[in-house]
Amino acid sequence: MSRKKLIAANWKMYKTPSEAKAFVDAFLPTVAGYTRDEIALFPSPVLLPTVIEAAKGSSVAVGAQNIYFAEEGAFTGETSILQLKAVGGTHTLIGHSERRQYFGETDEIVNKKLHTALKHGIVPVVCIGEVLAEREAGQTEQVLKTQVTGAFAGITPEAAAPIVIAYEPVWAIGTGKTATPEMAVDAHRIVRAEVAKLLGSDVASKIRILYGGSVKPDNATALCSQEEIDGALVGGASLKPDSFLAIVKY
Ligand code: 13P
Repeated sequence: MSRKKLIAANWKMYKTPSEAKAFVDAFLPTVAGYTRDEIALFPSPVLLPTVIEAAKGSSVAVGAQNIYFAEEGAFTGETSILQLKAVGGTHTLIGHSERRQYFGETDEIVNKKLHTALKHGIVPVVCIGEVLAEREAGQTEQVLKTQVTGAFAGITPEAAAPIVIAYEPVWAIGTGKTATPEMAVDAHRIVRAEVAKLLGSDVASKIRILYGGSVKPDNATALCSQEEIDGALVGGASLKPDSFLAIVKY
């Protein structure tokens, strides 16, 4: 079963609108006509209109780093999925470890956001991953199963097709420590088996599982060429067009 890979940039809380536009203007010509993999950019909400406008007519998708589960209302500081759709965003990250760590997002919140994204036809990239203490305590498998089960509560096999999962071991994020391809493949197999248990083997064989955590130009090939790894979610190394391009063209 061959799955089209997705190479995605999570810019986190970096870039001004002019810096974001300069990135897209420099990056797009270098991937014109490129069809091997899908490419997506995840800028901060205030940058979305600029990046979407700059990427218009290209095959590069643009999404949010986070959406709220309610469609609208008195939720100061949050971004609504209706707003994301209205400006032309097509994807969203859900449950990034920084959201879990600093903003108290639980598996229950992740689940509600996943339902909202699917309802509105936005491609959800659900982020999961263990912290260092969990890995060292031999709990990685259990943590991943719990996160997948929690995120997928109430999701039917029919609704699940657009879902992308990103396995991002928290100890590898922004640390320069990457999971070895073997470690990533092991984790992806655990996640895929859990998806099979919950939603059946057909969904599991089609669902894309990205790896994230210190992906750089010099380790992207070893990771992304694994059959079990369906692409990358890149933080720091996605901020410069050259570096992100080198990962896209691993
Ligand atoms: P780094 O690539 O900077 O480790 O970040 C990974 C990440 O969190 C992507 O979502």
